[in-house]
Amino acid sequence: MDQIILRSVSTPLNGSVTPPPDKSISHRALFFAALNHGRTVLHNVSTAADPLATRNLLESLGYGFAQEEAALVKAAGAAHPHAGHGELSLHCRNSGTTARLACGFLTGERGTFVLIGDDSLSNRPMERVAAPLREMGGTVNTTEGRMPVHVDASHPLSDRVMLMEAASAQVHGALFLAGLRSNSGVLIRRTRLMRDHTIRLAGAFGLETPYTDDNGLPIDEVMAATIDRDVELRIPGDLSSAAFFVVAALIVPDSDITITGVGLNPTRIAFLEALREMGAKVHWHTIGDDAEPVGEIHVQHSGMMRGIDLGERVHVGTVAQMMDELPLLALVGSQVAGTTTVRGAEELRVKESDRIAATARLMRSLGVVITELPDGFEVTGPQEVAGGGAVDHEGDHRLAMVAAVAALIARVPVTIPAPDVVAVSYPEFWTQLEAIAPGAIKGAA
Ligand code: S3P
Repeated sequence: MDQIILRSVSTPLNGSVTPPPDKSISHRALFFAALNHGRTVLHNVSTAADPLATRNLLESLGYGFAQEEAALVKAAGAAHPHAGHGELSLHCRNSGTTARLACGFLTGERGTFVLIGDDSLSNRPMERVAAPLREMGGTVNTTEGRMPVHVDASHPLSDRVMLMEAASAQVHGALFLAGLRSNSGVLIRRTRLMRDHTIRLAGAFGLETPYTDDNGLPIDEVMAATIDRDVELRIPGDLSSAAFFVVAALIVPDSDITITGVGLNPTRIAFLEALREMGAKVHWHTIGDDAEPVGEIHVQHSGMMRGIDLGERVHVGTVAQMMDELPLLALVGSQVAGTTTVRGAEELRVKESDRIAATARLMRSLGVVITELPDGFEVTGPQEVAGGGAVDHEGDHRLAMVAAVAALIARVPVTIPAPDVVAVSYPEFWTQLEAIAPGAIKGAA
């Protein structure tokens, strides 16, 4: 498909949406499954391009996965991975999580490897993970801070060091996998609150990660270990993907939808909490817990919302915990009374695009006035979304979906070029959008 043209909807959004499987959890489940000598059965693994990059990388290393009916199975028995004849090139595509987690994982493989990615990934910082791995005794070298990253794993890591900085969940996951595969384990001090999927999955695979507390920040103790247990897991729906439909229902008059089968991990719900604080009619409840809490979100159109100032809570980690949802907050902020301010989100500049600049450009091309800040943005509403013409999502899957949600209330139809970019995280997005908002897709070519 070259483009999709979307127009505003005249009827409310009604019904239910089940988001695709969680991307973050899928990546980690695949890495843990590779290490498991027991049998691993994974239900509802994401087939989006990012987790597929992780699966392909593991398969290139010799870890075999098989589709058995609806489940992805890694058979019991130690794998016989790549024996290390020359440098093996591993393509991470557009997936930062694949690249970062692989850096840690590969330190426990035998051989030498080079990690490469597409143009966007090749511009993203890799020292944040390479530097601490080198501190642990690994040979992990970036190319001027970026990809290609060379990993020489001829010897296992042995330093049991206390790492003072783990700036992201991806870095934490990488250090965790490296520690697990090292000779002596590792202590990881988490310097801010972040999504805790690695720890939860480790528990599901039978590993204990005791932690001590340092002024409210946990220090995880990762012991070197072999995983050997039969594991069967169901991966919940992705809250970051569900967020697009949450916002769609909030802004299209009279809408009332339910999101089902969605992960409600407490380290992921900061966006829902912020919306509720803004006056949104959004409620959620947990129904089950299989390593990760899963449940439902109920959202209704909310005409009386007001802006929120997230500038003051940077230190408590709220902004970091809704990093992937922040571009949507720019749209919500434009629709509610008062000013919405996001600060402390400089990490957004090194995502799949410079998401601060790209979000501001996207919103402006839709006719919304927004101020770009060095570490966030500010938007005052309510404003009309004018729409009209083609938007530039700069190849960023999340921005393409923000534009699609904005188009539901735009005065003039909006054209989204290269709509297949959504497959990075949400291959079913257009089909689900058409189902919940019939008529919104005016044309596709
Ligand atoms: C992710 C962590 C987040 C998030 C990314 C996925 C993960 O990034 O933005 O989409 O799976 O660990 P950080 O590593 O900056 O926390």
